[in-house]
Amino acid sequence: MNSQIKAVILAGGSGTRLYPVTQVVNKHLLPIYNKPMIYYPLSLAMLLKIRDIALVVNPQDRESFEKLFGDGSHLGMKISYIIQEKPRGLAEGLILAEKFLDGSSVFYLLGDNVVFGHNLPLVLEEALNEVLTEGGAFCFGYAVPDPERFGVVEFDASGRVLSIEEKPKKPKSNYAVIGVYFFDEKAPEVAKRVKPSKRGEYEITSVLEEYLKEGSLKVKLLGRGFAWFDAGTHDSFLEAGEFVATIEKRTGLMIGCIEEIAYRNGWIDREALIKLAKPLSKTEYGKYLLKLVDE
Ligand code: G1P
Repeated sequence: MNSQIKAVILAGGSGTRLYPVTQVVNKHLLPIYNKPMIYYPLSLAMLLKIRDIALVVNPQDRESFEKLFGDGSHLGMKISYIIQEKPRGLAEGLILAEKFLDGSSVFYLLGDNVVFGHNLPLVLEEALNEVLTEGGAFCFGYAVPDPERFGVVEFDASGRVLSIEEKPKKPKSNYAVIGVYFFDEKAPEVAKRVKPSKRGEYEITSVLEEYLKEGSLKVKLLGRGFAWFDAGTHDSFLEAGEFVATIEKRTGLMIGCIEEIAYRNGWIDREALIKLAKPLSKTEYGKYLLKLVDE
């Protein structure tokens, strides 16, 4: 168990880019192929053995998330909920999470990001260890054809970070910053210093910029062999689902199966897994869980 770090997953916002679908259903509860979107970032935190996790949610959606995860004890975890009254931006989550974090570092995840790749847990673990030993912030760049849709990071020839900008009209590179971040214990304080952007939001990119100014921002590029989706638009939502379906059917292994990870982490025993799988036993998901029991 990792006790120096907690995870916060952002699952609020209004999901306008997915309208009309998200008029009454929260984006993060929609299915990416065979499981709710939020399972994917949650599973990354679990792969890092982080058991203490808070979800930042809208007031009207809290009940749905609680129905889905309760207090997390069925997975051997502690899941809590932090209310974001209005969608004022991704950086606000850090301020709202201050009490929950209580001085620990944070694995900060956007609830609509799906990341997959060989040795991903190892890559994340290295970043986590750097933040725990040296402090600062750590994020990841990923080459995309449409960087203007994202936070964009610029490097010099030696790989040093020069700038980081939110949705620039003229991107200085084609590296998007993905929604997976590590911050040291100063993050809530740093987030409080941030001013709203032109679109009136407290941007996570501004928090990264503050760390960059202090010389304590690290960026690692995720190259070939990694897949990253921000499932917040109709196209990327569909593509993420198709990707997960393809990999799962080809390998027979699930991506983002939280019950499996809890079991393999030793957070729940065989009996607990059977209890979780039984009500789903007629579904492919349930059958998959029951197969794990016989391994
Ligand atoms: C957010 C961040 C952006 C980041 C992206 C990744 O954008 O503001 O920096 O690159 O997530 O998914 P949003 O999806 O909120 O527009």
